[in-house]
Amino acid sequence: MSFSIAQLLSDRNNDKFPLHEQHLNNQMVRVLKTIGYDRNYQKASGQYLYDQDNNEYLDLLSGFGVFAVGRNHPTIIAALQETLTLELPNLVQMDVSLLSGLLAEKILQHTPEKLTKIFFANSGAEAVEAAIKFARYTTRREKILHCQHSFHGLTLGALSLNGEEIFREGFGPLLPGCSAIPFNDLAALEAALSSKDIAAFIVEPIQGKGVNLPDDDYLPEVERLCKQYGTLFVADEIQTGIGRTGKFWAIDHWGVNPDMLLMAKALSGGFIPVGTVAMTSKIMDSVFNRMDRAVVHGSTFSKNNMAMAAGLATLQVLEDEQMIANCASVGDDIISNLQAMIPKYEFLKEVRGKGLMIAIEFGPPKSLALKAAWGMLETANKGLFCQMVTIPLFKEHHILSQVAGHGMNVVKLLPPLNLTQKDRDWIIRAFDKTIADCHQVPGSIWELGKNLASHAMKAKKTL
Ligand SMILES: Cc1ncc(COP(=O)(O)O)c(C=O)c1O
Repeated sequence: MSFSIAQLLSDRNNDKFPLHEQHLNNQMVRVLKTIGYDRNYQKASGQYLYDQDNNEYLDLLSGFGVFAVGRNHPTIIAALQETLTLELPNLVQMDVSLLSGLLAEKILQHTPEKLTKIFFANSGAEAVEAAIKFARYTTRREKILHCQHSFHGLTLGALSLNGEEIFREGFGPLLPGCSAIPFNDLAALEAALSSKDIAAFIVEPIQGKGVNLPDDDYLPEVERLCKQYGTLFVADEIQTGIGRTGKFWAIDHWGVNPDMLLMAKALSGGFIPVGTVAMTSKIMDSVFNRMDRAVVHGSTFSKNNMAMAAGLATLQVLEDEQMIANCASVGDDIISNLQAMIPKYEFLKEVRGKGLMIAIEFGPPKSLALKAAWGMLETANKGLFCQMVTIPLFKEHHILSQVAGHGMNVVKLLPPLNLTQKDRDWIIRAFDKTIADCHQVPGSIWELGKNLASHAMKAKKTL
């Protein structure tokens, strides 16, 4: 009998949760079941997911940002199918491939002029690892500076630049010479850089955890200070890049020129893992400075044909469908509509973002009845209020969203860039109703709140 994935999926359609409980990360299944996100998705297209009863869900998570052009984009599928049928010589290794050259050329058409070289890896974290090594080698300095609340990935080097204790705890000792300063704090940056022993300052132009935006003078000053003290300026655009914020790069909002620019996630349309470092020729030529060092850093699967083809097709789709302009205008529209709700709702404190990277922040209310309810949740677990928003958004309105980070009351939207007016209306309607319901105490949402609080208290006791 011939091997068929479709047949396998159909035969084992009800087995995914038991299999994960038995053989993979059981805690993830527990989380999904506790918050009621345990659906049996069967299909995905663009910004939508479909379960086995063909219910449609609006995906505002986009696989943590990888599906910027939407899921299963037909142009990228066609490019991948074509690549497979061509039976190309892939990963010859003692060779260089045309597809990786073409993708490098295409990416560099979008980067600041100063960046003329590309290094390919297989993930965001691998791009970060490369940046750490390249910065150390080029500057012959050991130390790397990063920001509090930053996220640069979870491999050991990248984790050493991670601003959240929850991710780091128990995995140490991490890389020596890494330290954190507050984001958007130029005085702290200058104080750290003035020791003149820091190889690189790595920063997300807009922080993913919490969607924290810098002041307008921050990144230009980062560029200036890094130059002054001989530190490389590394912009981590793994989440913010490739159109997410309504411009090709988030750094384009401030016109800055980093020494290294990192991308991954959206670059290959969500199909094939990829990571990329764009850099100056000075950095590339310093690391790969002799023939016997030609393979001094790399990874077996990097530059594989499928990732490169997917990257080329994705950049074409972004251009042909003018998705970045759409992202800017739909994003602005969603942000201003959500901001207009602030005077109506005591719990709603701030809506911020750029393009389709949006944060909706909640905080303590003024009125006494609501204050007590808020206090109950915060005591049980800081940041729990957000679950009272994301769970009804999912269950009642079929909107998949996420909390922006640990211990914060911020809901984050990171949808595909092709959202339509219909999707925008769906989002605004659902948030309006859900936030209004949160202000009804007692009410059905607060029954959910009590349940969440009791789960959180039980979890704390078992620690
Ligand atoms: C800004 C940033 N850097 C690095 C990473 C790590 O990327 P990956 O998960 O592909 O390793 C992420 C992932 O969310 C990210 O948002």
